[in-house]
Amino acid sequence: MKIAIMGFGTVGSGAYESLKNVSDVELVRILARHGRPGYEELDEMITPNIEDIVNDGTIDLVVETIGGIEPAASYVLACLNAGKHVVTANKNLISARFDELMAAAAANGVQLRFTSAVGGGIPWLHNLLRTRRCDEIISIKGIVNGTCNYILDSMADKGVSFDECLKIAQDLGYAEADPSSDIEGTDTLRKTVISSRLAFDTTITEGDIPCYGIDTIDSCDITWMKEKDLTCKLMMTARNTMKGVTACVEPVLLRSDSLESAVKTNNNLITLTAKNLGTQSFYGQGAGSLPTGESVVHDVMDIRDGDKTYAAFGDTAVKCCKDTELHRYYIRHDRMCEHISPLIDEHEEREGIFYCISKPITTAEMHEIGHHRKERGRKLFFARLPEE
Ligand code: HSE
Repeated sequence: MKIAIMGFGTVGSGAYESLKNVSDVELVRILARHGRPGYEELDEMITPNIEDIVNDGTIDLVVETIGGIEPAASYVLACLNAGKHVVTANKNLISARFDELMAAAAANGVQLRFTSAVGGGIPWLHNLLRTRRCDEIISIKGIVNGTCNYILDSMADKGVSFDECLKIAQDLGYAEADPSSDIEGTDTLRKTVISSRLAFDTTITEGDIPCYGIDTIDSCDITWMKEKDLTCKLMMTARNTMKGVTACVEPVLLRSDSLESAVKTNNNLITLTAKNLGTQSFYGQGAGSLPTGESVVHDVMDIRDGDKTYAAFGDTAVKCCKDTELHRYYIRHDRMCEHISPLIDEHEEREGIFYCISKPITTAEMHEIGHHRKERGRKLFFARLPEE
């Protein structure tokens, strides 16, 4: 099988390292403006012209690791329409254009696979799909952003400030080019859309999912949590209810006996619960050149071997619905204003900061207040409390 790689950055070069160990897959073209230092042996394959790949009838499969929506979307569509399989690590693209891209793959009788788009090196999506072949997924949940986990873990473990932790996560290469998508939860949101799409065959989109990140967390929150023996994680959750699929991205407080509370540094932990299988968790490196690159290469090999796990599902798409369940939240704010006080069951004030426990409220109510205060420059942090 002859393949091309579009974009030869962190993930593309990681995939190349794993490809060296694979037989029957020959890399023949790389789409890039210039060669990558340390990979001079590939210089002859480099082309800046997408046509050199799309119009090359000998190329069976294209790996897309450019990232972002455009030009990646146009290039991927051109390759699919030219009858080439595509493997991508691009979570932004798959989350935003899922239906269109899956339809283009199906129409052209080729595969579009994206295992590495969620969980990096963890075969999460692959196993989610395998489970779905003969079982019904009831719910999924997990820590899918390594940057946020690194920040939350370092703040709690080493007492480092938020800004310092974020800087280190950037230096270590965990964070996105614009780290606001990590800390505001949008990276987790995209991974929730993709995971939910595959778990439940749902039409859910980014706009359907309440999302609140960890960008307003402060060291004083960590102090409060430690006193209560709770650990904070940014979690995705999604479940198939009788009325449809409901999903959410928000900070969650966990007791010390939970698996999630033990996830250190930039690791991910993702869990599915299925009707017959029960609960199964997947843990490991959710980012990074070699783990993510290896996951890309597994998709390439699965296509080479004729695996059809990513075939489009039936046309009984499940709608999404609003979560009407009630939860209690920890809320920290600098003022007991008229927006917050009606929601509060108990609170304590320390040095002008209010640490509150909410009444049972819906996720939508909590997120609305959080975003409302944030838009007005009043930093509010909240996290869902464990069920009693
Ligand atoms: N910025 C992402 C993370 C990279 O921190 O998890 C992997 O998707």
